[in-house]
Amino acid sequence: MTAPRIHTITLIPGDGIGPEVTNAVLRILEATGVKFNWERFAAGADAFETQGEYIPAELYHSIEKNRVAMKGPVGTPIGGGFKSINVTLRKKFDLFANFRPVKSLPGLETKYPNIDLLIVRENTEGLYVGIEHEVVPGVVEAIKIITEKGSTRIAQFAFEYARKHGRKKIHAIHKANIMKLSDGLFIDCARKVGKDYPEVQYAEHIVDNTCMQLVMNPWQYDTLLLENLYGDIISDLCSAFVGGLGLVPGANLGTDCAIFEAVHGSAPDIAGKDLANPTALLQSAVLMLRHIDEHSAADRVQKAIETVYAEKKTLTRDVGGTAGTSQFADAVIAALPSA
Ligand code: NAI
Repeated sequence: MTAPRIHTITLIPGDGIGPEVTNAVLRILEATGVKFNWERFAAGADAFETQGEYIPAELYHSIEKNRVAMKGPVGTPIGGGFKSINVTLRKKFDLFANFRPVKSLPGLETKYPNIDLLIVRENTEGLYVGIEHEVVPGVVEAIKIITEKGSTRIAQFAFEYARKHGRKKIHAIHKANIMKLSDGLFIDCARKVGKDYPEVQYAEHIVDNTCMQLVMNPWQYDTLLLENLYGDIISDLCSAFVGGLGLVPGANLGTDCAIFEAVHGSAPDIAGKDLANPTALLQSAVLMLRHIDEHSAADRVQKAIETVYAEKKTLTRDVGGTAGTSQFADAVIAALPSA
C-alpha cells in the first residue's frame, strides 16, 4: 500500500468570523480522511499586533513554497489605515483570475431557483490598484489601470473554462460608453479572444443595465466576465440569488499558485457569536480539493452539504435555520458519504 499523500497548505484563518468558519471547515476536511499539513498564519491587524507586520514574511514564503492557500476573510479599514491584505496577496502572487461559481443548492429555497452563474473577475487591475492622490486640497484622483495583457489573459481564462466545461455563453460587462479607453480596451480584448472560441456565444452588456437584468432575469446569463470593481459588486448581488454571502465560494487563481476564499468579508456584525454560515468557505475548500486532485473527497463534501440543505434541519440563521456554525459543521460531518 502506498502512504497517503499529505498536502501542505498555507492557512490564513483571518479575523471577524474567519476563525469560526475556518475551524468548521478544518473539522469537515479532517473528517474526509485527506491528510493535510496546515501552515497557519495571522494577517492584517492581528498580525501587526503580534508581529509588527500586516503580512509576515513567513506567510509570503509559505505561499511561495506551497502554491496553495486557504484563507478566511481579513477586515480592511475604511477610508485610511493599511492596504487590503486580500488585494496585496492577489497582486503579489499574480492571482489574476477570481473564479466565483454562484449555484443554487438543492433544497435551499430562494426567490431565484436553479441559478448556475459563473463570475470571472479580473483580480489585479482596474481601480483596485489603489493608486490615489490628492491633486489639490478638495480634489482627489484615483487611477484605473486596464492593460491589454491583463484583459486578454482573463478573457482567455473565461473562454478556456467555458470550452472545457461546456458553458455556452460569456457576457463581458463594461462601461465603455463612458470609460471609452479603459473599458473599451477590456471588451476589445474579450472580443478578440472570443474569435478563437466559436462554440461559445459572446455578448456585451453595460454594467448598470446588467444589475437590472440580473434582478429581473438572472437565467439569461451563464458566465460573466468582469473587470475588478464590477466583479466585486456583481458578486455580492449574485450571492443573493442563492441565499446570500454565506454560500458563495471563490478561488484566486494564477498560473502556478491559488488562494481559496469565500466571497464574503469578516462580517463583524455577527463575529464571535457562532452565527456565521461556513458553507461559502466550505465550498471554496471543495474547489481547493479539486485543485489538489482530491476529487473523491470534493464530491463527498459537496454531497454532504447538499444533504444537510435538503434535510433543512441544521441550517444557520442567514438561510432561515437556527443552528450555530459548529452545529452545521457537525451535521455535514454526519452526512459525509463513506470513502
Ligand atoms: P461582509 O461580507 O463581511 O458582510 C456583509 C453582510 O453579510 C453582513 O450582514 C454579514 O453578517 C453577512 N455575512 C457575510 N458572511 C456571512 C456568513 N458566512 N454567514 C452569515 N452571514 C454572513 O461585508 P462587509 O460588512 O462589507 O465587510 C466587513 C469587512 O470584511 C470589511 O473590513 C471588508 O473590507 C472585509 N472584506 C474582506 C474580504 C476578504 O477577506 N476577502 C472580502 C470582503 C470584505
